[in-house]
Amino acid sequence: MSLLTPVLTADWGDATPWRLSSYAERGGYSALDMAFAMTPAEVVQLVKDSGLRGRGGAGFPTGTKWGFLPQLDPEHPKARYLVVNADESEPGTCKDIPMMLATPHTLVEGVILSSYAIGAHHAFIYVRGEVLHVIRRLRAAVQEAYAAGHLGTDIHGSGFDLDLVVHAGAGAYICGEETALLDSLEGYRGQPRLRPPFPAVAGLYASPTVINNAESIASVPGIVRHGADWFKAMGTEKSAGHGIFSLSGHVTRPGQYEAGLGITLRQLLELAGGVREGHELKFWTPGGSSTPILTAEHLDVPLDFESVGAAGSMLGTRALQIFDETTCVVRAVLRWSEFYKHESCGKCTPCREGTYWLVQVLRRLESGEGTEADLDLLLDQCDNIAGRSFCALGDGATSPVVSSILHFRDEFLAHLGGPHGGGCPFDPARSTLFAQEVVA
Ligand SMILES: Cc1cc2nc3c(=O)[nH]c(=O)nc-3n(C[C@H](O)[C@H](O)[C@H](O)COP(=O)(O)O)c2cc1C
Ligand code: SF4
Repeated sequence: MSLLTPVLTADWGDATPWRLSSYAERGGYSALDMAFAMTPAEVVQLVKDSGLRGRGGAGFPTGTKWGFLPQLDPEHPKARYLVVNADESEPGTCKDIPMMLATPHTLVEGVILSSYAIGAHHAFIYVRGEVLHVIRRLRAAVQEAYAAGHLGTDIHGSGFDLDLVVHAGAGAYICGEETALLDSLEGYRGQPRLRPPFPAVAGLYASPTVINNAESIASVPGIVRHGADWFKAMGTEKSAGHGIFSLSGHVTRPGQYEAGLGITLRQLLELAGGVREGHELKFWTPGGSSTPILTAEHLDVPLDFESVGAAGSMLGTRALQIFDETTCVVRAVLRWSEFYKHESCGKCTPCREGTYWLVQVLRRLESGEGTEADLDLLLDQCDNIAGRSFCALGDGATSPVVSSILHFRDEFLAHLGGPHGGGCPFDPARSTLFAQEVVA
């Protein structure tokens, strides 16, 4: 039996899966009438029953989030919004962009269903500005949906109205953080907001707002069409449903593999032809660079929210970056840390200053000018960033540093000065020495 469960990716091999005609041939937009035959509250309950958890990283139950919106008061209706987070800037994460490129109508249908459920008449898809081709394709899909009567006023004669805007961000990782995204969407500099109030109460333009990841929203049409039990039949008891796993790096066939949550990296690597020929797995990220790295020891950890957490990491966005034994872990962590330093929005001191100092110490270590005390210094710096920063970017910046020291302390030490001088043991000039001194 195949381990793959293609739902969101099922049409990707079609000739023109992005066209409305192709999507309609496969039953696209048929979920709208099914939902309109239900009350909005029943649609929310259906999504709750399905067990769908947010696909943007944190895994918060989607239906529960929708339920946090204040009750609609028909006497004093206040605008409420649905915002789709399609910023996708986490290093390694590359699922939403191919999905929107291949089948933008799945997301558009999900937006209509979700907006109906929460009572929103305006929805936004916030896409990172660099992916112009995706923005164009989404906008073309939205135009097609308007022309076909799936968007606009009195959709399918239901009396429900919805306008959908595809908004191009300006390319900042922090704009994927939901409250920074809202500031950016309102035209301000993208920086996280203080919570409470939470977006469900005062989000976009201070109105009740639901923000969900693009894959979360794109999962809704399937749930409406096939039911909660169909969705729950995939995945595990607490991490239900299908998810797109993105394999990148030193793997034979990198790409998107859609499977039930709970599949293991060993199984995914078998499907992807294994680590590139002649090499072996050294370390990997389960969910992008903000999730602590794991090693070959963790090949059989079920990739669901609970099991990856128990193994000391996080499922995150299922961005499985694979690194073989030719990779210097110190150099990889330095590159990630440079990314976080660059992307830190500067609002809070622990992250703004801390990410700068992490890079300084890692550069020193990588170039062979560090000392063993620098490892403790790095851990101390991480201790002062994690849990003390204003948003989760700061916490994420510490994950690769702390986890790499935990799993590869010897490799850090191998960079230090010694009888043969310091520097990266993976540089050809030092690699033989490294093999003799550390690996042996
Ligand atoms: C620095 C940072 C970047 C983020 N980037 C994204 C992103 O690109 N896409 C996304 O869906 N969530 C991102 N998130 C998580 C969002 O804040 C939020 O949790 C998510 O959009 C909620 O959607 P979900 O419940 O459907 O998962 C990011 C969080 C942080 C701290
Ligand atoms: S943790 Fe970093 S990104 Fe988040 S608010 Fe503070 S400085 Fe900005």
